[in-house]
Amino acid sequence: MSDEFVWWQKGVIYQVYPRSFQDSNGDGVGDLRGILSRLDYLEWLGVDALWLSPMYPSPMADFGYDISDYCNVDPLFGTLAEFDELVAEVHRRDMRLVLDFVPNHSSSEHPWFQESRSSRDSSKRHWYIWRDPAPGGGPPNNWLSQFGGSAWEFDERTGQYYYHAFLKEQPDLNWRNPELCEAMLDVLRFWLDRGVDGFRVDVIWHIVKDDEFRNNEPDPDYHPGLAPHRQLLATYNTDRPEVHQVIEKMRSVLNEYDERMMVGEVYLPVERLVTYYGGEGTGVHLPFNFQLIELPWHARVLGDAIERYEGLLPPHGWPNWVLGNHDNPRIASRIGACQARVAAMLLLTLRGTPTLYYGDELGMHNVPIPPDRVQDPFERNVPGMGLGRDPERTPMPWNAEPRAGFTSGEPWLPISEESGHRNVESLRADPTSILTLYRRLLELRRREPALHIGDYVPLAAHGDVLAYRRRDEGARYLIALNFGAEPGVLDLTGRTGCGKLVLSTHLDRDEEDFDCRVELRADEGVIVKLNE
Ligand code: GLC
Repeated sequence: MSDEFVWWQKGVIYQVYPRSFQDSNGDGVGDLRGILSRLDYLEWLGVDALWLSPMYPSPMADFGYDISDYCNVDPLFGTLAEFDELVAEVHRRDMRLVLDFVPNHSSSEHPWFQESRSSRDSSKRHWYIWRDPAPGGGPPNNWLSQFGGSAWEFDERTGQYYYHAFLKEQPDLNWRNPELCEAMLDVLRFWLDRGVDGFRVDVIWHIVKDDEFRNNEPDPDYHPGLAPHRQLLATYNTDRPEVHQVIEKMRSVLNEYDERMMVGEVYLPVERLVTYYGGEGTGVHLPFNFQLIELPWHARVLGDAIERYEGLLPPHGWPNWVLGNHDNPRIASRIGACQARVAAMLLLTLRGTPTLYYGDELGMHNVPIPPDRVQDPFERNVPGMGLGRDPERTPMPWNAEPRAGFTSGEPWLPISEESGHRNVESLRADPTSILTLYRRLLELRRREPALHIGDYVPLAAHGDVLAYRRRDEGARYLIALNFGAEPGVLDLTGRTGCGKLVLSTHLDRDEEDFDCRVELRADEGVIVKLNE
């Protein structure tokens, strides 16, 4: 049965933020050679696919999400030849490589934009979104940039505004233009031909805007604790119906190749999110499901959310789950070090493809960034609101040395003060560490089809305890998680058979008998293999 499923359904994705994974040349910024040198670790850990955040040529206004050449590697990260070596090495280890594809905007330094802004008659003028000023002057409408201020930038030379959903250094591409569309689909082919297994598609719900450029309405639920762009509902600049036609075009390129996939970044309510699966063979394989990032960390809330999500999936829709990424505070900082272990067990026992953010397997926390070391443009533009993303982007600690084995130079972001003990080398040697837990969870998930492709059956979500079963033809597992700091008991007498406890988040209870009743310590999760 397992053969009916493909790698991106059975496997686990690991996100590498290249700037912070491993530096090989002492410039304080991670690079492709560095990633190559750490593939042994990733193989040991037991992940199946790597997703690399952008490593393309970029002025780095948004740390690589502002691309000036879609078909090359930034010299900071290495060369195309090194990239080819990385693909080959990843494949040799029977792993997959997923690249970040950033279709919504390029860098303002991309030659396409330079050409586009050169004159109103430029052949690439309509590759971007240019509008006249409003009748009385000023921006064409009220749309706001995610990074603060108006989303329109006036260009003196041609007397028009261009639209940028993010920084003004990131002008939005116009996917309604067939030539631009073809040029971007060729970018996909360029990387697919080099052997890339798939793409994580950046802000995919943003790529088509309203053709009438209507003003957005104010959001009645806005409060000043939220990012300023949230003052308006993003009705007309995101999630437009025509986006699905563009996705279908991207998907048909992937369909020209074997078993390639795309996972799309979509921050929308779950009933909108699932529309990104599209029809069979036409949508995104995995629209990122960020509910574990967005929802309060409560057994009941999450239990309900899991069931609702499962119920909303289209018949061909494969689920997926995420605990963290380079845009959100680290899981251990959100819910605490003890619950981070419960989160690991949840992520790796739910039905659906898990994506694991580098360093979360070490229980890394957000790292406080002194004001003079702030890098993220979001923090610079909208300071002091805690919106900056540097704290979750700090270097991976490999060992207890002062620079954590990450670099021989000055790291681009500070290294965590915890890295003296919270580093790969130390945690690998500790049989009860969170890293050991991750490795054992990954190993169990890979070994047991019930855990990677089996059904999800909810059992209980009350108080602080969430329990569910995973099952396929061969085996049945019970997972019970205590989201609280008090001990809890789960009594399933009459509802489930006996079995053996195979893993506790505390890593000290293997092979205990289970007789339908399980006592959970504070912050403990367990996996029980049920008898047939
Ligand atoms: C996505 C990326 C984020 C970036 C933004 C603009 O949300 O994940 O890091 O700043 O797109 O490209």
